[in-house]
Amino acid sequence: LYKDGIIYFLGIYLFVCSQILLQVEISEIQGNIFRLKIDEASPLRARYKVPDVLIKEPTTQRLFVSQKESGILALSSVNEDYKLKVTANPFQVVIQSKGETVLSMNSNGLLYFEHLQPPPGDRYTENEEAASDSSKRKQEDLGLWQEKFGTFLDIKAHGPSSVGMDFSLHGFDHVYGIPQHTETLLLKNTSDGDAYRLYNLDIFGHKIHDKIGIYGSVPLLLAHKPNRTSGIFWLNSSETLVDINTKAVHMPSGSAAETAKQRAVPLTDVRWMSESGIIDVFLLMGPTAFDLFKQFAQLTGTQALPPLFSLGYHQCRWNYEDEQDVKAVDAGFDEHDIPYDVIWLDIEHTDDKRYFTWDKKKFQNPRKMQEHLRKKKRKLVVIVDPHIKVDPMYTLYSEAKDKGYFVKDRNGQDFEGICWPAIPLLYPNCTPPSVFKGAELTMQKDAVHYNNWEHREVHNLYGFYQQMATAEGLIRRSSGKERPFVLTRSFFAGSQKYGAVWTGDNTAEWGYLKISIPMLLTISMTGISFCGADVGGFIGDPEPELLVRWYQAGAYQPFFRGHSNMESKRREPWLFGKRNTQIIREAIRERYVLLPYLYTLFYRAHTAAEPVMRPLWVEFPEKIETFDVENEYMLGNALLVHPVTEKEAKAVSVLLPGSEEIWYDFRKFKRMEDPGILKIPVTLENIPVFQRGGTVIPLKTAAGKSTEWMIDISYELHVALDTEACAIGELYLDDGHSFQYLHKKQFLYRKFTFHKNILTSSVDADWEICIS
Ligand code: NOJ
Repeated sequence: LYKDGIIYFLGIYLFVCSQILLQVEISEIQGNIFRLKIDEASPLRARYKVPDVLIKEPTTQRLFVSQKESGILALSSVNEDYKLKVTANPFQVVIQSKGETVLSMNSNGLLYFEHLQPPPGDRYTENEEAASDSSKRKQEDLGLWQEKFGTFLDIKAHGPSSVGMDFSLHGFDHVYGIPQHTETLLLKNTSDGDAYRLYNLDIFGHKIHDKIGIYGSVPLLLAHKPNRTSGIFWLNSSETLVDINTKAVHMPSGSAAETAKQRAVPLTDVRWMSESGIIDVFLLMGPTAFDLFKQFAQLTGTQALPPLFSLGYHQCRWNYEDEQDVKAVDAGFDEHDIPYDVIWLDIEHTDDKRYFTWDKKKFQNPRKMQEHLRKKKRKLVVIVDPHIKVDPMYTLYSEAKDKGYFVKDRNGQDFEGICWPAIPLLYPNCTPPSVFKGAELTMQKDAVHYNNWEHREVHNLYGFYQQMATAEGLIRRSSGKERPFVLTRSFFAGSQKYGAVWTGDNTAEWGYLKISIPMLLTISMTGISFCGADVGGFIGDPEPELLVRWYQAGAYQPFFRGHSNMESKRREPWLFGKRNTQIIREAIRERYVLLPYLYTLFYRAHTAAEPVMRPLWVEFPEKIETFDVENEYMLGNALLVHPVTEKEAKAVSVLLPGSEEIWYDFRKFKRMEDPGILKIPVTLENIPVFQRGGTVIPLKTAAGKSTEWMIDISYELHVALDTEACAIGELYLDDGHSFQYLHKKQFLYRKFTFHKNILTSSVDADWEICIS
């Protein structure tokens, strides 16, 4: 059936008891994106389709039927660059680009779709029930309608409803993405049965090198080979597993003389499995990594442009005790001449965990305290958790209760969990997960949300909505004037629209500093540029050297915040002796001097979906030696950063990629020897940073006490020439906090060109702002 530019390919029958009709839609979305959607043609009740993540319903383009024979349909994309071959039996879709097979679906026949059924009790006639084999079958069926997790019983009100499918990526053996795991940049084979899990969980003291999901997830997988980057975006918010299997397949050799010979071509099979929902998958065809980033942003939005202050340094702790403490820490920064923008109050600032209230003993005059900070051109950020204390005297609770806003348990009562608000009574010495009494310390899957959707359907979206509501609330509070800053630990595809993400409760050990780089790169590649890890490590106490190295790494990462746990010792930057204070001061100052460049990168992330922090391969897509590099990265296209993550390191091996590139020591303006792997001596004073020849980086000439103190500090340009003695770069500037850049076009966007010994500053018409 061919209707409205969408191919409806009807008639796939599944293996589950009776033959159930599934409806398959294959469509093209402008910009080299294909969408495959599979749902039951007439389900017993509507299946969950993820709302709010796509910024708009994508407009589909007409796919042309170029060939039709029984059971096979050949379709061409509008520009004829892509051909899709759809076969009916077995159902398979193959996508080719100019004769090259890029991606195929269901090649391994792993498509499955558990269709909705009436509850087992309704399905058996009395006679059938009497027969012993059918009573056994009924027991088995019932088993699928409920599941035990430790002492928890999960009752599936609508029965089992999982979906899954396999994809083969032809010629690819490097795959990335699907955060968040404490894993390597390059996704690993899961043939040992240990699949990547996408299920947002708070795992206190989580280990490193683990494929269990933590805190947030983005179901986007990227695959790269020298001439092409492709992606699979599996839009499903229920618990999801991803299996990866890279292998070599033997193909006849291309050249006529060698036809008898075989050549090994890599192939990566990726299998997605989700607990519920439908199959709704977007195939992002690139062909470059930057095309792919744009395609994903076209669907889910770009990074919100952060207010400038939020790119400064943040000082956080669980908890800064009271007003005096806040003032003393703030004064400490001035005393030690260390810039910072934001001091944070953790959940202890509240009246017994009634979020949005103050502990009146510790914070007698919060307004005055904020005024004090405001005068010093600094900000206060508070932390709240996404639950509300049960207390009829607490207005927020009683109002939400009266209006029926709370999530319900499976019996229709307001869902009550145990977390901080109830802790003093119940758990005097406990560790801090999210829903203390719940399977895997999270909300039960059979809890019921708005519109009768079970929690299992929406689990991975919970934090996404919390951040969305908070960001929208803040915009409203300022009557639409101020850009909000909202940080979240739990995220999903599209969270970039609402603010920043951090990697959660890491530990003050070297391994966690090291793994933070691939973790942040992975988050960045999946659309969320504004990300960071707790500097110093949240749990435990870093040795001074580790703390220093963490500051130096954090200064060159998008979100830069020192944070520590309740049980950790105090960790303000000046508590570790004179020399360490000096080095940390220098690292933070470098960050402030770098802000014009960083802010410009965020503007590019906001308007053109370019990740601020990028794996090397994104900038050097043809250089195979970069494909698995995860101990260094590019900040924009101009800076290569190699944090030091080993204790007492005397030297690090740095890969400076690209034989035709010139690299310069960023601090010494010194040209490096030829590119390749270089052994760079290091001292504790700083970490290796290199500027790429051919780039211009805007900087401030000095740091100030905070971003707002720096408005009048002048700019300088670092011009690093390439082999042709040329360089280009840019600077974006606006008021740093409002939406005037958008509504009134109040911004400055200069392009710098260095050519034939002349530096020109211009406004390039092609660079006009384009924000959808
Ligand atoms: C867990 C958060 O990850 C951490 O950053 C915070 O300090 C504690 N909860 C207390 O709010």
